[in-house]
Amino acid sequence: MKVRFTETVLRDAQQSLLATRMPYSVFKDILQAMDKAGYYALECWGGATFDSCLRYLNEDPWDRLRNIRKNVKNTKLMMLLRGQNLLGYKHYPDDIVRLFVAKSIENGIDVMRIFDALNDLRNVEVAVEETIKRGGEPQLAISYTTSPVHTIEAYAKLGKQMEDMGASSICIKDMAGIMGPQEAYDLVKALKETVKVPIDLHTHSTTGLAPLTLLKAVKAGADIIDTSISSMSGGTSQYSTESMAYSLRQLGYEVDLNDDVLKEINDYYKPIKDNYIETGLLDPYVMGVQTDALTYQIPGGMLSNLIAQLKAQKSIDRLDEVLEETPKVRAEFGYPPLVTPMSQMVGVQAVSNVITGERYKNISNEVRAYVRGEYGTPPGEIDPEIVKIVLGDEKRITTRFADTLEPQFENFKKEIGEYAKTDEDVLSYALFPTVAENFLKKRTEEEENRATYTIVEA
Ligand code: CO
Repeated sequence: MKVRFTETVLRDAQQSLLATRMPYSVFKDILQAMDKAGYYALECWGGATFDSCLRYLNEDPWDRLRNIRKNVKNTKLMMLLRGQNLLGYKHYPDDIVRLFVAKSIENGIDVMRIFDALNDLRNVEVAVEETIKRGGEPQLAISYTTSPVHTIEAYAKLGKQMEDMGASSICIKDMAGIMGPQEAYDLVKALKETVKVPIDLHTHSTTGLAPLTLLKAVKAGADIIDTSISSMSGGTSQYSTESMAYSLRQLGYEVDLNDDVLKEINDYYKPIKDNYIETGLLDPYVMGVQTDALTYQIPGGMLSNLIAQLKAQKSIDRLDEVLEETPKVRAEFGYPPLVTPMSQMVGVQAVSNVITGERYKNISNEVRAYVRGEYGTPPGEIDPEIVKIVLGDEKRITTRFADTLEPQFENFKKEIGEYAKTDEDVLSYALFPTVAENFLKKRTEEEENRATYTIVEA
């Protein structure tokens, strides 16, 4: 049996280890070698990379994509897209979603990994439809979590619905690295019995379970696994590509990766990693194993957020109470997966419930919108008491929220005006208005300065 690999160093690995601060210039010279390694795909765009390019790196994310494509001619390029939220945190109208997907594919993306935080497929349908229309491959991702309502049967049914929607493959997305080997085995097995499309397992090394989980997933028939080149692997990142390739071959699986090329890639990233440790951007702490997420069943990132919130409110001594409150709030919210933006909503509510001494005394706008149904249908029931406290007599939305949104592209185009040279620029602005405006203004100024300089020189 053959196992294929999605290499994550250009997106998730650097997002998890380096807060997505790796500029294009750092990895450009290794792209052509990466194209020869034999990966199923390079996950290289989307997620936080787009925002980070504009906000911190003074880089046009669209240029980055085109430049990667220029150097990677044969391997599939994958991006991560949060359904109707695209790469941001709110729901966008369908015209923006369609154009964003179309432009991503036009500029080089092959595999569009699409997910929704609540696994509400109405929030991914437009992105999937447009991906297919533009000749891309929609890989639908299941946001993995555990709860009384998240049964194997429910996941298998979700997988079947994804396949029926046109998914070219299905990814099990364990963002928190909390999936254990038996859970992976049972889930992959159930999906393999239900769907025909390939299954890809995405997990993180945070809790140390990753190699066991990946191995059992492969034993159950997973076709693709997500890993990262070893020097950029481990901890909050993915598990190591070379170690999985080595182990799987020893166990009799067919692995189409070229070891010499993997060594070349790893040798390239080694000094880069060392340099990031020296400058402090890479904290060696995040490369270790942290099992707290298993104890509390809370993702590591969310746990550190809770601690930060409590410290800011000089209430770190209430941590135990907050850790007890968090699963209660999550249950009352209908067991949403603890991923962005749900992890923030649940965390803030739990902290507030404890600190104010009165449950649901404060309720954020995001929680109101969630209870109203703007984010989609929760996996379980929201506690009727909470619905009453939050909404009073107001009615909940049961239709797809994006159906209530008017087309917006032309408005964005007008707003950003001459600073946008292309539709891609307008999309950057639509997604991240303030940072994109700053970026595009600066770019225009630099171009004008260059023009003046050229005239003087001539
Ligand atoms: Co991830």
